[in-house]
Amino acid sequence: MKLWFDKKSQFDTLSIKLPKSVKTKYKIVWSQQEANFIKSINNFLNRKKYSSHFLITNDKIYKQYSSFIQQHFLGVEVIIIKDGESHKKLSTIEHICIQLNEKGVDRKTCLWAFGGGVIGDITGFVAAIYMRGVSFVQVPTTLLAMVDSSVGGKTGVNLASGKNMVGSFYQPQKVFMHIPLLETLGKKEVLCGLAEVVKSAIIYDKEFFQYLENNLVAIQNRDQDTFKYLSYSSAKIKASVVEQDEKEGGLRAILNFGHTLAHAVENYFNYKKITHGEAVAFGMAFATFFSAKKNFISQEIYTRIINLIEKLELPANIDQLPEKNLKKKKAFLKHCLVAMAKDKKNLNGQVRFILIHDIGEAMLPVAIPQIELEAALSEFFIDI
Ligand SMILES: NC(=O)c1ccc[n+]([C@@H]2O[C@H](COP(=O)([O-])OP(=O)(O)OC[C@H]3O[C@@H](n4cnc5c(N)ncnc54)[C@H](O)[C@@H]3O)[C@@H](O)[C@H]2O)c1
Repeated sequence: MKLWFDKKSQFDTLSIKLPKSVKTKYKIVWSQQEANFIKSINNFLNRKKYSSHFLITNDKIYKQYSSFIQQHFLGVEVIIIKDGESHKKLSTIEHICIQLNEKGVDRKTCLWAFGGGVIGDITGFVAAIYMRGVSFVQVPTTLLAMVDSSVGGKTGVNLASGKNMVGSFYQPQKVFMHIPLLETLGKKEVLCGLAEVVKSAIIYDKEFFQYLENNLVAIQNRDQDTFKYLSYSSAKIKASVVEQDEKEGGLRAILNFGHTLAHAVENYFNYKKITHGEAVAFGMAFATFFSAKKNFISQEIYTRIINLIEKLELPANIDQLPEKNLKKKKAFLKHCLVAMAKDKKNLNGQVRFILIHDIGEAMLPVAIPQIELEAALSEFFIDI
């Protein structure tokens, strides 16, 4: 599949058309100049069809952006929740719904998610269920949200027993990607986004992968044009996949490349010592290793993928994770096998992996017998 395009061409908006059955169409709009961002959000705020607008963000982002929000979102009420994945839970949803209700908010309101993936998932879920559904808009403020979570319509929260266990598919009215918002992002958060960018390229677009290989310095320097290009290309890839399969009946599963092992690894580290992006990078390295082991890809392709992950300062082998002792490596392996056996995307008790034929060509999920998975994992974890 090829989606790559000339970097110099205009790419300020992208239309997303979901399958006819869903009847949803919305636009993603990019901006780099504050004036353009203000113009596009004002156009939206002035739409007559909304009775009110509420912006949902967290305390950390609000501290950084309170004057930006107050200046640009005139007349918009702000709801501030606590920062962190641990607040992506049902009680936060209830808390926001109660606030909306106490303020007399009706069905014609529009909610604005101003934040990263956590705020986007929470706001989208509130929008999906408050009064059986109100409008919402995304203003993603992390690279991960710009390249991944703000596109595709998955919303929801975690349960103590698992991530994203409660949620819905609910599409926004619009997504505003304002690239300068990324300037205040910490390095770890940038790396989380980059892991998903690399994933998009590996599963769908070989030339985009080549672009990443050739533009490492600009990526490391957080060049704004480059980040805009990363955001556009990744959003376009995700949109293309979601347009074909909104609810993960088939193709959408390829977006899980690297994620089956990643979820198990995050679980091992109690969602603390390791970021989601690091876990995804490690999971992608294993899925690549496995694809090579099954002779689906050449050694050359394997090396290119591992090199790109490492050059972006993401972990591609076990010694780059916060787990170094061999004895613990065995316990780690066992934990991953048990956790993967419980993956919510398993079918008939078998773990399903996304493997690749080539860079840019992911395969639909392949069921892997436990014995084969254990052998590949122990080779990857211990013998490598
Ligand atoms: N819906 C989807 O399709 C989808 C896809 C991928 C991930 N997700 C979800 O996204 C979440 C992870 O998202 P994330 O990585 O954006 O994490 P996040 O939302 O927790 O943001 C990371 C950190 O950066 C801070 N932050 C946000 N914007 C900032 C800015 N501009 N400057 C400084 N700090 C800023 C946040 O307050 C937070 O502390 C997870 O809950 C994951 O499940 C959802």
